[in-house]
Amino acid sequence: MKLAFFDTKPYDRLFFENLCAENGIAVKFYEAKLNADTAGLAAGCGAVCSFVNDTLDAQVIDRLAQAGVQLIALRCAGYNHVDIRHAFGKIHVVHVPGYSPYSVAEHAMALLLTSIRRTHKAYNRTRDFNFSLSGLMGFDLHGKTMGIVGTGRIGRAFMEICRGFGMRLAAYDKFPDKDSGISYVPLDTLLAESDVISLHCPLTAETYHMIDAGAIEKMKTGAVLINTSRGALIDADALLAGIKARKIGAACLDVYEEESNIFFEDFSGHIMSDDVLARLISMPNVIVTSHQAFLTEEALRDIAETTVSNITAFFRHGSCANELCYHCGKVSSCRTHRLEKCF
Ligand code: NAI
Repeated sequence: MKLAFFDTKPYDRLFFENLCAENGIAVKFYEAKLNADTAGLAAGCGAVCSFVNDTLDAQVIDRLAQAGVQLIALRCAGYNHVDIRHAFGKIHVVHVPGYSPYSVAEHAMALLLTSIRRTHKAYNRTRDFNFSLSGLMGFDLHGKTMGIVGTGRIGRAFMEICRGFGMRLAAYDKFPDKDSGISYVPLDTLLAESDVISLHCPLTAETYHMIDAGAIEKMKTGAVLINTSRGALIDADALLAGIKARKIGAACLDVYEEESNIFFEDFSGHIMSDDVLARLISMPNVIVTSHQAFLTEEALRDIAETTVSNITAFFRHGSCANELCYHCGKVSSCRTHRLEKCF
């Protein structure tokens, strides 16, 4: 079994190299992202392993299929960047549905605490022997309302953390879990009543720009927004306008709408071409990390183990429980449908 591994970073090799060797998978690690220009590198490989900012549109899927690739193994949970419908009948797609939700939930809280207690600014000051406190005043989280959009694995892990801080919780989910004891409210109520809003739902056609100018207008003045989910949940132009109008108190962003050609790469010393990102980063009340919420030892180990077991299951049995598939309608004969993995 040969695997072409795209967008490789040193930490990927650390977790995948030995595991693949132990499972008889010969890996070609490519630093390039997967796109129409690089898809040909997968010729002769049965599978490709791809990450969040690779391109998996119709053209790339066709090129991979022509090169003989049978399986796209996503080493991530999100699959909004994959044309699942176009892949149907040509190539199989598997993903890692869940891995340490604490990695992302804890990063969301790290961003929030950094932002509101200004620890990043204090760190820089004291390194310069500047011990002044002016401009570092924050606020208590205790007693404040945290609004959580999306109460899946990560949303719930984040709720537990917020409970520990003595926060009040308000939650919104399109598919509320009625037996969970979570107090759900309509999205507009959450927007209006929350001091901090944290996004933990997937990016879909429906959630695209769910935080736009209208949603920001409904928020409390000074509300803090956290996004560790997917960039396009927020209309970045509207966020910038909300910050400039002093409506948004602070923004903690691990993801950005136009991140795909920027995040994970070193652009220091270059001119930043994305004006909106450059302006956001220049704001004193915005913290940006480059899609690193998943980057813990535990999460990376989970991701590597599930990805390798997805690949071996697929090539041994022709199917895998973590397969994503387009809803073809052939209900009775389709194993994927029986596993409720159709989209
Ligand atoms: P999950 O599938 O366990 O939970 C997602 C929740 O969102 C579900 O409860 C679902 O009902 C809800 N949802 C679906 N559509 C909705 C809508 N229109 N409005 C409100 N809620 C809706 O997913 P999990 O594991 O909690 O991950 C959440 C998101 O976090 C992922 O979709 C992914 O985009 C992001 N993520 C980010 C990472 C990072 O490194 N920054 C790493 C891993 C995931």
